[in-house]
Amino acid sequence: MMSGRLLGLGVGPGDPELITLKALRLLQAAPVVGYFVAKAKHNAGQGGNAFGIIEQHLRAEQQRLPLVYPVTTEKLAPPLDYETLISDFYDTAAAQVAAHLDAGRDVAVICEGDPFFYGSYMYLHDRLATRYPCEVVPGVCSMLGSAAVLGVPLVYRNQSLSVLSGVLPEDELKRRLADADAAVVMKLGRNFDKVRRVLRELGRDGGAHYVERATMREQRIVALDEVDPMASPYFSMIVIPGARWQG
Ligand SMILES: C[S@@+](CC[C@H](N)C(=O)[O-])C[C@H]1O[C@@H](n2cnc3c(N)ncnc32)[C@H](O)[C@@H]1O
Repeated sequence: MMSGRLLGLGVGPGDPELITLKALRLLQAAPVVGYFVAKAKHNAGQGGNAFGIIEQHLRAEQQRLPLVYPVTTEKLAPPLDYETLISDFYDTAAAQVAAHLDAGRDVAVICEGDPFFYGSYMYLHDRLATRYPCEVVPGVCSMLGSAAVLGVPLVYRNQSLSVLSGVLPEDELKRRLADADAAVVMKLGRNFDKVRRVLRELGRDGGAHYVERATMREQRIVALDEVDPMASPYFSMIVIPGARWQG
């Protein structure tokens, strides 16, 4: 029997209209739709963020395959170890997907934004792409969705763009931001306060823009000074555009 195809589909940053025609076509044709979801959401009968974006496009007969994260935080009390736990989880998730592929069924794994840009899909891809036919469909990543709703052109002419994770240690973040023509800082949440402090120390806070849940219904754009660091959600980002070219 021919094995099914593994499809990694980017579904865009939140606005359901920002999915590509190709991702939508492959999604609707797939007999199985895989999605990552936090345990609490799954237990409450919900899908993950990506699932919410595409749910309206699914037919009843398409099989839903929830891949349920065992933990949502990287900080765990010993003897629990995040790296081991999450790696075992991705092994199990890959085996769940592989069972369908072995039975000849295509599996569309949906991914918020782009699958190869910090996407959980990558961990399935790394485990399965050499064993099964596979296709990846790029999506509008959150960085570009954020720049668009903020109305800030990102990079002019020969400027370079730095994509930084808010998880970086403070001195490393400072070193990289000091050198950057333009930058986006992702993975804020509990890291927000640290990132804002670094931007202030570098005198770059004035040119920095903050957005929560860009392109989603709950989108919120707030001045950096007004953000409550205790309330900055996971789906947020700081965008520091390159100096405007007066062309
Ligand atoms: C695991 S990464 C996923 C990135 C995704 N694959 C993409 O292409 O944009 C999660 C981070 O992306 C950013 N993010 C994702 N969606 C966002 C949105 N709609 N608005 C603002 N930031 C978002 C946040 O910084 C969040 O911490």
